[in-house]
Formats: sequence, C-alpha cells, structure tokens
Amino acid sequence: MTAGEMIETASRPIIIAHRGASGLRPEHTLAAYELAIDLGADFIEPDLVSTKDGVLIARHENEISSTTNVGEHPEFVNRKTTKLIDGQTVSGWFAEDFTLAEIKTLRAKERLPFRDRAFDGQFPIPTLQEIIDLAKRKSAETGRTIGIYPETKHPTFFDAIGLSLEEPLVEILHANGYNKADDRIFIQSFETTNLKQLDKMTNLPLIQLLSNTGKPYDLAITNDVRTYKDMTSPDELAKIAEYADGIGPDKRMIVPTDDNGILLQPTSLIQDAHAVGLLVHPYTFRNEAQYLAPDYNHDPEAEYEQFFNLGVDGLFTDFPGTAFGALQANDNFRFQI
Ligand code: G3P
Ligand code: CA
Repeated sequence: MTAGEMIETASRPIIIAHRGASGLRPEHTLAAYELAIDLGADFIEPDLVSTKDGVLIARHENEISSTTNVGEHPEFVNRKTTKLIDGQTVSGWFAEDFTLAEIKTLRAKERLPFRDRAFDGQFPIPTLQEIIDLAKRKSAETGRTIGIYPETKHPTFFDAIGLSLEEPLVEILHANGYNKADDRIFIQSFETTNLKQLDKMTNLPLIQLLSNTGKPYDLAITNDVRTYKDMTSPDELAKIAEYADGIGPDKRMIVPTDDNGILLQPTSLIQDAHAVGLLVHPYTFRNEAQYLAPDYNHDPEAEYEQFFNLGVDGLFTDFPGTAFGALQANDNFRFQI
C-alpha cells in the first residue's frame, strides 16, 4: 500500500481530473484520463451524452464538432443540422444522431486554440464502459482506487428524445460493482429533477452542480423562480442535502472577483454547505494565465493553496499534476503516490 492510499479521502481534498488531464491531451479521451491518473488524480470526470443506439459516451456537449473531426468526414456531411438544446439554438453534428459504430470512426481534437494540438486525430471517443475498464486497470496497476465522477449532460433533452441517461448510467455502474454509498463514484448534474430521480435509483453519492449564472434548465421550463445563486442560501442547501451528498459550485461562488478579476473576500458557501452535511467540490482550476486571477501572480499552486485552506473537499482541475504538486507542498496534506 502506498502512502497516498493510507490517507483516507476524508482527510484531504480529492483531485478530480476535469475531462481527464484536459490541459495536456484532448478532453474526454482514454489518453487524457490515463495521464490524469498518472499525474495523481483521485477521480476522472467523464461528461456523458447518448448515441442513437443508447450507449453512453464521453463528450461535454451532444454537439460534437468542437471536440471531434466529424466535420472532416464527407460521409456525415448531411448529418449536420440545427436543434434547440436547453433553450439555445445549436448547429452542428449531434451524438444522438450517430450509432456507436459511427462515433467510433471519429477522432478527438483539442477544443481550445491555445492548447497543444499535437494529439488531434489520434484518439477515439470512449464509452463509459471503456472508462470504467481503464479505472479498474489503473487501480490494479497503481494500488490506488481510482474514482469515476460522471456527469449527465442535457438530461431533460435526452429524456425528451427517448434516450434517458439515468437508467443506462445506473445500470452500467451497478453492473460494474459500484452500488454502495462509499464506492468511489460521484454522479453529478446541473439539473435537479434527474438527481432526485437518481437518489431513488441508487445509493451512489450525488453532487448538485451550481453555476455562477442562470438556473437549472429543469427549473427554467417549470417556471421555478430559483436561480443557482438562490440555491446557495442555507435553506436551499438544506433542500439539496435531502437528495444529494455534495455541491459542485463554480469556484467564483466561493471566491468572487470584481470587474477587473481581482479576488474579493470568500463567501460563506463552504461553511454553509458543510453545516448541512454537503461536500464541496468547486470547478474549474486551470494553469493558463487567462484563467488565473492577477492576485496569484502567475502561480496556479497559489490558487489551489487558497482553496485547500478554505476547506474544500476536492476540486475539478484540467491540470491534475499541478493540483497534486500543491497538495504535496501543503504541510497538512503531503503524501506520495
Ligand atoms: O462538472 C463540473 C464541471 O465540469 C462543470 O463544468 O461545463 O466543464 O461540465 P463543465
Ligand atoms: Ca463536467
């Protein structure tokens, strides 16, 4: 057993690899997840959408042209279309219009222009089952139990087209032996209705995601007045605690910034969530200068240090190696993998 394995998850913040080590490899590829684990991630995070034949695959959006080479495939040119997704008009190619066999002919590409494109065209789009297989293989290889942190994307939309995400998600997780409250799984969603359904379908831990703007789409279409910000009040956090085990807030809901991006005093969100028994896993931590507040003086470890000291239970990062370095540098959490 390694020193890292001896430290209970509860005793230090967990490192959640946001879309894999997505700062270094095209997001949501097995290569990105595996590198994340090698760099010290405790959990890998697949965002999930459905194929036409009901298979869960890892993509951040159901529109797949920003992160795959689908636009370069002449056989799919007629598949381009326009849809209304969560109230927004979106044009492109959509996962639910492709079978898994067709998706497997595509290759991933880097989304962001300022990140390395050297790996474009190399990696296929993984299924949830392939991600679970990777986590199990790497757990055996490393002696660490690698967790999986799946997010249901556009759950109301997928329900409406007969490709509900929750049933296959729970079925696959349970079939792979993940069914207990202390298994290293967190299921997350920006919507609320599906999390309440999931709470009845599984004992696995659930995380209510919170955006710094807007409101959950399922609340918007039922004319519920509550925004994400409203959901951070102590009363609303208590309601979340009835069906979820934690919150995943935008980090700016914990440390806000002013109009110039300068850090302001932290809010009481961590304490308020902890007071009702909710874990707090903010997103998203990134190394690049355009994402770092000037207060950190170009040092991404300084940002982790601030949030560790504020008491987060984990965080989502595109650069799990940097987060791991910051944990090692912190006297309270130093450990080895
Ligand atoms: O799920 C936490 C974080 O990933 C939420 O943001 O849009 O990257 O899925 P997003
Ligand atoms: Ca996500």
